[in-house]
Amino acid sequence: MEFKFTQENLDKVNEAIKRYPDKLAAIMPTLWIAQEQNGWISNEVMQEIAKILEINPEDVLGVVTFYTMYHQKPMGKYHLQVCTNVSCMLRGAYDIYESVKKNLGIDNMQVTLDHKFSLEEVECMGSCGTAPMIAINEDFYENISLEKVNKIIDDIKKSA
Ligand code: FES
Repeated sequence: MEFKFTQENLDKVNEAIKRYPDKLAAIMPTLWIAQEQNGWISNEVMQEIAKILEINPEDVLGVVTFYTMYHQKPMGKYHLQVCTNVSCMLRGAYDIYESVKKNLGIDNMQVTLDHKFSLEEVECMGSCGTAPMIAINEDFYENISLEKVNKIIDDIKKSA
């Protein structure tokens, strides 16, 4: 399905382009704006970005596949990222990760049948001082415990 930026987002992309000496350098903010609009980075999104930035689609693909923050398939409305890197691991991240998997009935990079949740095991998100932590979309939940994480998930399940 064809992808076009909304006018508002196209304005944001053009603002991003202006901040860099060449268009290629604006690839990461452009991808982020596209993901916020589309939910994930499809082939059509990459084609459109390549056209706007006047680069090869392969260059866009290279960035998308390198950075895990860009989704290569549709994810849930609430995308849970559980950090299992060293600081979080030492403070029980794997127990949290296993508990989240069980609560949602999905594994890494899977989406619940109702498309409400998706799960991703991630590397350090720079919040080691408040480990263990998870992120839900762009919000961080720090000093998390099994009880807290399951309450957060259950509250979201109950919400519309
Ligand atoms: S190790 Fe988890 S945030 Fe750094």
